[in-house]
Amino acid sequence: MTSRLHVLNHPLAQSFLTDIRDQRTGRAEVRSHIRALSVLLFAEATRDLPVEPVQVRTPLTETTGARVGKTVGLVPILRAGLGMVDGILEMLPDARVYHLGLFRDEKTLEPVEYYSKLGQHPPVDIAFVLDPMLATGGSASHAVSCLKKWGARRVKFLGLFAAPVGVEKLAGDHPDVDIHVGALDTHLNDRGYIVPGMGDAGDRQFSGSA
Ligand code: PRP
Ligand code: URA
Repeated sequence: MTSRLHVLNHPLAQSFLTDIRDQRTGRAEVRSHIRALSVLLFAEATRDLPVEPVQVRTPLTETTGARVGKTVGLVPILRAGLGMVDGILEMLPDARVYHLGLFRDEKTLEPVEYYSKLGQHPPVDIAFVLDPMLATGGSASHAVSCLKKWGARRVKFLGLFAAPVGVEKLAGDHPDVDIHVGALDTHLNDRGYIVPGMGDAGDRQFSGSA
């Protein structure tokens, strides 16, 4: 397995992931857990972001602090990636958000692009692709290719559940991309769903049972 794969190993993450997997967990709770998990993943994936020194005055003295000095872009893959945006924006309100719409053809499992709001040039130093599911890896790989064509120089992928074949596909097509996931699951079923996984990530968040 690629050394670019980082699986979040944190007790809170494991609890959230377990609740998300549980088919009894309704969409409001699934959304809230995905939001929290995305924050944990983003914190881990931004460990290497450079900071710039800034002077601040506390009530007691002048001191040197630090702030993120890079422009960050968040690229949620519609629909399921939408649930990962808001928590991250609370941590980094200045991040720019670019929407990319992809769905997986049910028969071929190939990604189909239906929406792109990337604009002309990437005014970002680093772009984070947000998508809960890395299944065959076709969608993630296509998204990263779009960002590279756009001109993005650094790209990282953030997801909740990954299948080994999806990790291999993304790492094979884009060996320069760090892959941060909550869990590495065992396999895909015959319809291309991650097992054990969480089922359909879009439906579980937006239109599943309460
Ligand atoms: C899901 C998921 C990924 C894709 C992963 O989207 O959110 O984008 O499938 O599968 P892959 O790794 O095999 O490409 P889906 O096509 O279900 O669209 P949706 O989010 O609109 O439901
Ligand atoms: N898309 C999903 O929503 N879930 C999977 O397990 C695989 C692809």
